[in-house]
Amino acid sequence: MTRTVTLTIDGVETTVPEGTTILEAARMLEKEIPVICYHDATTANGLCRICVVDVNGGRLLQPACIAACQDGSKVETRNSRVERSRRTILEMLDSAVDLSEAPAIQDMMHEYSAVPERFPEAKRREFSILDDNPFYMRDYSQCVLCWRCVQVCADDAQYTFALTLGERGFHTHVATAYEIPMPDSPCVFCGQCIGVCPTGALKPKIEFGLQQGWSAEEIRQATRQPRRRKTSDEA
Ligand code: SF4
Ligand code: FES
Repeated sequence: MTRTVTLTIDGVETTVPEGTTILEAARMLEKEIPVICYHDATTANGLCRICVVDVNGGRLLQPACIAACQDGSKVETRNSRVERSRRTILEMLDSAVDLSEAPAIQDMMHEYSAVPERFPEAKRREFSILDDNPFYMRDYSQCVLCWRCVQVCADDAQYTFALTLGERGFHTHVATAYEIPMPDSPCVFCGQCIGVCPTGALKPKIEFGLQQGWSAEEIRQATRQPRRRKTSDEA
């Protein structure tokens, strides 16, 4: 028999199977908790902390996407502590990352009254746009390091393992192993990374070209795989 736990979420008592996360339990009650690094298709790692909730007034807020429901807990999904924490996370993100093509995060900024100029001295994470294949572009200046692309490329879906993290600390960024060009990596250009990316960091090349005002011919040329010349042995 499945063991269950009973808790209250925003004053509503609910009973869920043991192991259910607070995020899942809240969704069953149709309560919205914001997420950035979490995606239904990928393993939750509790990286961004935008989903934090107050559990029993504890000293530390808990990330709802990975914290399991506990019997007898009282969870508040949105009180002043939670709001302040989410607002600060959004302001810090916005201070370092280009969020101009991240509409869901922009909506959160608005909802939590985040002030974009809160940290004017902050150093921004800036990277050159990577254009090394005919299928998609990578602009890691827009990357929030949610890991969704890395996970969906790995054992959450594609089992290709083309992506990893390069460098450490402030310079951490998504990369191929040894930063080799994407066509030289195990990437099969399935596009799943683009599908789960919550920002404009990963973009089909056609979409990029349309945004840049490229002509149909320019897009055609940019998205063609150059033909490989036959070697004399193959001729
Ligand atoms: S490229 Fe997109 S999906 Fe990948 S870590 Fe950055 S924001 Fe997340
Ligand atoms: S959504 Fe829970 S930590 Fe990112």
